[in-house]
This record gives sequence, structure tokens and C-alpha cells, in this order.
Amino acid sequence: MAVILGIESSCDETSASICVNGEIKSNIIATQAIHAKYGGVVPELASRAHQQNIIPTVDQAIQQAKITKNDVDAVAFTRGPGLLGSLLVGTSFAKSFALARNIPLIDINHMQAHILAHFIDDPKPQFPFLCLTVSGGHTQIVLVKDYFDMELIGQTLDDAAGEAFDKTAKILNLPYPGGPLIDKYAQLGNPDAFKLPEPQIADLNFSFSGLKTAILYLVQGEIKKNPNFLEENMHDICASVQQRIVSILLNKLKKAAKQTGVKDIAIAGGVSANSGLRNSLLAMGEKYKWNVFIPKFEYCTDNAAMIAIAGYHKFLKSDFIGQDVTPLARIPM
Ligand code: KG4
Ligand code: ZN
Repeated sequence: MAVILGIESSCDETSASICVNGEIKSNIIATQAIHAKYGGVVPELASRAHQQNIIPTVDQAIQQAKITKNDVDAVAFTRGPGLLGSLLVGTSFAKSFALARNIPLIDINHMQAHILAHFIDDPKPQFPFLCLTVSGGHTQIVLVKDYFDMELIGQTLDDAAGEAFDKTAKILNLPYPGGPLIDKYAQLGNPDAFKLPEPQIADLNFSFSGLKTAILYLVQGEIKKNPNFLEENMHDICASVQQRIVSILLNKLKKAAKQTGVKDIAIAGGVSANSGLRNSLLAMGEKYKWNVFIPKFEYCTDNAAMIAIAGYHKFLKSDFIGQDVTPLARIPM
């Protein structure tokens, strides 16, 4: 029997999950609504909200899993990357819980956990597989050789894909986080309405800053001619932006698949909730005979189930960390 309590607090979601023998029994997420009015995550407010939310969130995860605190065999927590003040709350909680119960502590890399979310449900990818990990802070192509043996083969040189969505939303006067709203409006618009540039970056790396500037200039220019431009064209702009972001991502993924010869292809991270990305990846998978793996929506954005499942796989190897562990805002893959 292995009962793992997973804790996630890297950004603006406080989350706790219980994993029993590799099966997720609960995954509670307390979302911090406070950041919306600031147009982005305010680190100081995020830390305070984590402090307020963490105990009730853990209590709820334990209750929903129909276990007690005494049944937990190990605590897994996000060590980084993320906002340091936010990470400190989850790390301190995990250390205290493990100390009080005299059980092992397991540190988890948040970006690896996004990928390991694919080991929650069936079908599971086979090693080695490729994963395009796209979130608010990262855009990576990872060659996953084993649970904790991952090679970064491509990454963004500037903004992350999630940032490209969120910054575009800001230009369009849409609230934070912009990704889900752009996705919703894009489904009602014409993706070919506006021509946006595709950056010419070598290798498997990405760049989104040029796209952001192009959108800004396009919108500023059109508003000068027609002050109602945004209102009248919102769906078409969102559809055009989304199509371009998706094509930038998938063209590099296609290149990576060709270079490595790998046929098991996965996506992970908050932006993998995007309907355009999911549909285009499925179509590309059919065309190139890939086995495509797309996480359930609840395992795309930040959640503790991915921390708990990653923790379970470290638990099986008795890969524990000492009580002197500290969180890290940046951690290499
Ligand atoms: O993985 P995540 O929850 O947090 C980080 O680790 O960053 O990713 C959050 C990002 C945000 O930029 C958000 O706008 C984006 O994921 N996102 C989406 C969608 N849902 C969330 N982007 C595009 N379409 C969506 N449906
Ligand atoms: Zn994340």
C-alpha cells in the first residue's frame, strides 16, 4: 500500500491530491480569483492566499479520498520552478506534515510533473516519448526517456506560449488569464481573417515576442481607422492568433518527431487545454501515424494530482529528500 499526499503551490493554485497505489482518489484545487483584477499573478498576494488555503485544501483532499491523515505514507511537494514565496508555503507545509507523522518527504519538479500527468490514466505513453509542455511560464519540447530521465530538446527564447495568449488578451482588453477566453472566442471566429507572422527560429526553439508585437501593431493601426475594431472583430482576431500560436508549436513538434523518430507524442501544461491545439494535434497525429496523448482537462492546468503521481513513482524507488530541502524558483529539467 502506498498513499501519497501531493501538494502544489508553485503559482496561483493551491492544490492537494491523494494517490493510492498509483490511482488518484482526490484532486482539490483552490483557485485564487484575486489576481484577475491586476491582470496577472501578484506574487505577494499569491503567497498569502496559499497560506490561507493550504490546510482546508489538504483536509478536503483527505476527506474526499476517504482516508485519514494517519494513512498517508509520504508527502510529495512542488519544489520548483515557480514563484519562491508561493513554493515556500507548500514546501513548509509538506515538511511539517512529514516531520509530524515521521514519513518520507519527496521533492517534485513542476515541469516534470506536468509530463508525468500522463501516467494518471490509461492509455499511457511508452518511453521514449516526446512531450510538448506549454504553460504560463514554459514552452518546452522534452524527450522523455524514463519517469525522471528527461532531455530538453527545444524551448522558448523569450515568451512562453501561455504568456503569448495572456499578453494578447491584455492587448484585446480581455481579463487574465487570457488563454481560456481566447480559446472560447476563437471557436466562433475565422482563423484566416488576419495574417500573423511565423518566426523563423533555428533548431527546435520557439519565439513568441514578434507575434505579440505584430498583434499590438495590427490592433493599434486598425483602432485608428475604426474605434470599434476590437468589438467588431474579437472572434476573428482570437481565431487568427490561436491558429498562429498552434501552428508555431506544432511545426516544431513535427520537426522534433522527424529528428528523433519517436512516434508517441504528448502535450502537457495549461495551454494543452486549448481546443485548437488539441484538435490540430489529433489531426497531425492521424496524418503522421503518431500515438497522440492529451491529458484530461483537469490535469492540464496546475494541479496536485500530477505531483502525487510523480511522488508515487519516486516513492517506488525510495527516492526521498531530507528535511533541509529548500524550494527553488528555477530548476533545470
Ligand atoms: O500550467 P499552468 O496552469 O500554470 C503554469 O505552470 O504556468 O498554465 C497556465 C497558462 C496560462 O497562460 C493560461 O492562459 C493558459 O495556461 N491556458 C490556456 C488555456 N487554458 C489555460 N491557453 C490557451 N487555451 C486554453 N484553453
Ligand atoms: Zn504549471
